Amino acid sequence: SNPSTIVVNGKTYKTDSWFNVPENVLASTSRKIHLQKDHPVSITRQIIESVFPRPTFKSHNEFDPVVSTFENFDSLGFPPDHPGRARSDTYYINEKTLLRTHTSAHEAQLFRASESDGYLISADVYRRDEVDRSHYPIFHQMEGARVWDRTKVPGGDVAAAIYADLERLPKHNVKVDDPNPPIHPERNPLQAAHHSAAEAEALAAHLKRSLELMVVEIFTRAKAAAAKADPNYVDEPLRVRWVEAYFPFTSPSWELEVYYAGDWLEVLGCGVSKQEILIDAGVPNQIGWAYGIGLERIAMLLFQIPDIRLFWSKDERFLSQFAGVSDNLDCLKRFVPFSKYPACYKDVSFWLRSTSAAGGNTARANAHDWHENDLMEIVRDVAGDTVEDVKMVDAFTHPKTGRRSMCYRINYRSLERTLTNAETNELHDAVTKSLVEKLGVEIR
Ligand code: PHE
Repeated sequence: SNPSTIVVNGKTYKTDSWFNVPENVLASTSRKIHLQKDHPVSITRQIIESVFPRPTFKSHNEFDPVVSTFENFDSLGFPPDHPGRARSDTYYINEKTLLRTHTSAHEAQLFRASESDGYLISADVYRRDEVDRSHYPIFHQMEGARVWDRTKVPGGDVAAAIYADLERLPKHNVKVDDPNPPIHPERNPLQAAHHSAAEAEALAAHLKRSLELMVVEIFTRAKAAAAKADPNYVDEPLRVRWVEAYFPFTSPSWELEVYYAGDWLEVLGCGVSKQEILIDAGVPNQIGWAYGIGLERIAMLLFQIPDIRLFWSKDERFLSQFAGVSDNLDCLKRFVPFSKYPACYKDVSFWLRSTSAAGGNTARANAHDWHENDLMEIVRDVAGDTVEDVKMVDAFTHPKTGRRSMCYRINYRSLERTLTNAETNELHDAVTKSLVEKLGVEIR
């Protein structure tokens, strides 16, 4: 019973058998909390934008979340069998159209437009994922990219021009671990057909300093807010490290991690842009770097926001706490939790529809095509933001029949009020019923 057309931001799209976007996700495409004044996601965006000044960098914050499969994956060199393309991971409107899974979907179009030497793209991105306090099917990313044109730099020496720009960046005194060589022949190769080693190293050096400066900006503010909130706060010096990474559209690639409150946190992914992308975008003379950062994770840290659902709250007890910050980024305040309402755990145990029991209808969930994200989505669909997390607590395969049994524990807890027993039971019954209907499981 899928709708044959849907509307996102005023535009109508035809659906097909690939369509898998639930109503609550579609409804959120219009929220634009990254642009909402004094919203913590928007404040975080502004803080990061302040590190990448105009006119070198131009911000694009209004791109539509609906993109083509080509833009999201093919244009970036994702292979046809990449797991990110699966319908269990990505929201499709139809086979050729989806809700972007990352802001990199817009890289090629901006390289092609070639309006500036740098780009920032902030936007909502969509992924089918687990349910817990740090995952939500919609979150926000900021993409940054910086390019240089070989034909436009003095003397045609692009590496020298990049180093000259690096010299103009501010310095910082943070301890940076960078144990790996900037280029590794197998894991992190130079694009030898397109870049000299000197060019790739210049790009890497400029990229790393730029992103270190961004992290310094963010964490200096986070610590100042922490110290203001807690007179006993003990300041620890900031430590960051570069770790080799892999992305289909950059090489070499890295992740930046920051040591904060006793843990190494992965903060962003980045790398030297694959030259094929620039060539395909009609700007073969440009070379450059790109990064992508998740805004909610940074906002959770900056404001000490303990649960990702809070970003979607319309509750004044949440929103009013950040009033005025958009206009004065120096008056960052830590979030003060309003009282926590009680948790209510409910288990649901079921047999997966086994291949043999499924008879002629193997299209539904059986032992072989069980995707946990399908369950997660049904829970969200029925119970929405009253669910804090969902965890598997037991799974076994019956030794004789070969049937597989699973048990999931759902934690019902509203951010805004105490749920009544009757109400939680009703929600849980509805979840159970929907699991049976949509996944064909048999309740135990
Ligand atoms: N798009 C990547 C992600 O979502 C991040 C990234 C952006 C990596 C740009 C490299 C360059 O994980």
